[in-house]
Amino acid sequence: MNSIDRYAVIGSGIGHSRSPQIHAMFAKATRQAMEYGLLDTPPTAFVSVVRNFFRDGGRGLNVTVPHKEAAHRLADTLSPRASRAGAVNTLAAVDGKLHGDNTDGAGLVRDLTMNLGCKLEGARVLLLGAGGAARGIIGPLLEAGAAALVISNRHSARAKQLAKEFADLGPVTPAAAATTAIRGRTAVSDDAGYDLIINATSASLRGELPVVPAHAVGTQTLAYDLAYGERDTVFMHWARSAGAARAVMGLGMLVEQAAESFLLWRGVRPDTEHVLAALSSPST
Ligand code: ATR
Repeated sequence: MNSIDRYAVIGSGIGHSRSPQIHAMFAKATRQAMEYGLLDTPPTAFVSVVRNFFRDGGRGLNVTVPHKEAAHRLADTLSPRASRAGAVNTLAAVDGKLHGDNTDGAGLVRDLTMNLGCKLEGARVLLLGAGGAARGIIGPLLEAGAAALVISNRHSARAKQLAKEFADLGPVTPAAAATTAIRGRTAVSDDAGYDLIINATSASLRGELPVVPAHAVGTQTLAYDLAYGERDTVFMHWARSAGAARAVMGLGMLVEQAAESFLLWRGVRPDTEHVLAALSSPST
């Protein structure tokens, strides 16, 4: 058996994932003897690849698109936040069992509050999307003190269902049904000036822009795309042209959720500031 502790990210079409680089930097900075690889795996092979990885002594996996719900089903035990999210982004071998956690929401909240200076306490938040990515961040946003969290989704029934599911945690509601499907310019006025608009749809991955309720952008608005890439997403361009104060992609969240996973696995929290700075520099 390999003497060095093994970790990896598992997802489909993740050839360009920055997770191996991030965890290599964390390991170096915290002097942890570990290696971190990449398992590009289609949904049909997910369960067998995970089982083989842990059977061969692997210590932990980060789980990304499209396997987070499958990982939730596969885990023997779940953290409360993973259970609530219905999705797992971190697997760890604990006492011979597969433990599932979800560090996405904590990573997002940390990026927003610590790195971007966004005050979530009392904030009005518009969440675009009602899929797995949205599901993982609703609880942590409400726990961070959002005063209103409005969910807007292409298929509005999913937004309604999600709002209902999380209603016990705080003021979460579906977007007004009157919101019409005109991209970026709609006719309702009751969603005026959000402090924060989060794009949790998968539209950016296909270069598309989700429908955004009218008057959502105010001069104070921070627009945050969970997606990240080499170039600005369509949502970033839209947010700037709509007058948002700031438009940010999810690289900070990626680094922060990775740090949360690293903490779970290694018992030490790595410093994220220098890693984020290194990844953000054009030469990296
Ligand atoms: P993920 O795990 O990435 O959230 P998902 O569960 O398939 O993936 O959810 C994708 C989300 O992006 C959904 O909210 C989806 O809207 P629908 O529920 O109406 O399908 C949203 N989405 C995907 N492409 C979109 C597009 N082009 N415009 C608007 N919303 C889109």
